Amino acid sequence: MKPLLTPSILAADFANLERDINAAERGGADYFHLDIMDGHFVPNISFGPWVAKLMRKITDRPLDAHLMITNPREYIPEFIEAGVELIYPHIEASYDIYRTVQMITDHGARAGITLNPATPISSVEGVIDLIDAVLVMSVCPGFGGQKFIPSSMDRITKLRELLDSLKPSIRIAVDGGVTLENIGNLRKAGADFFIAGSAVFEAPDIEERVRAMKKAMK
Ligand code: DX5
Ligand code: ZN
Repeated sequence: MKPLLTPSILAADFANLERDINAAERGGADYFHLDIMDGHFVPNISFGPWVAKLMRKITDRPLDAHLMITNPREYIPEFIEAGVELIYPHIEASYDIYRTVQMITDHGARAGITLNPATPISSVEGVIDLIDAVLVMSVCPGFGGQKFIPSSMDRITKLRELLDSLKPSIRIAVDGGVTLENIGNLRKAGADFFIAGSAVFEAPDIEERVRAMKKAMK
């Protein structure tokens, strides 16, 4: 499947959000990623569904929401109503994750599942029938601008093998420390969706950086 570049707006300049989003779009951004943090599941607080509504006013690119929150089911309907089409709860957040994923598909959105760096990749097996994507965290979630954890590369390779044996249509997303330098190797390892915050929005020229990353991931 075609690789997709998904800038994370966490690193955008919120005083100039529309300007930054437009620049990423001109460079060819395929999707936009919303990092939802509750100060409980992760040690940081970001924003809620209202930002998804705001994004729907400034871009027609699809949106995904990465739910770093303890009670994802309380907010899933609101994110879907706001126009988010792909939702990634964390597998570590709910003991009944199957129910959470089911809620996403029942409400008409596509479901992904997120794995923290120390969560075994085999844990995706239980929700395999409902998901379209697995998001591999390549940093500990909570903050942008962290360094890529090197073992994530190997986890992506192994996850690709596992998914090929179970359900080959499932895509792999990678999030955290994705840069122009490592994106080519991440593609070779088997990732399909590349989520990047600081590498895109802290670049001197956002449009140019998106273009360069898209070229490098091919
Ligand atoms: C981290 C978030 C990431 C973050 C990525 O908790 O899930 O999406 O925005 O930021 P960078 O690309 O700067 O590592
Ligand atoms: Zn994220």
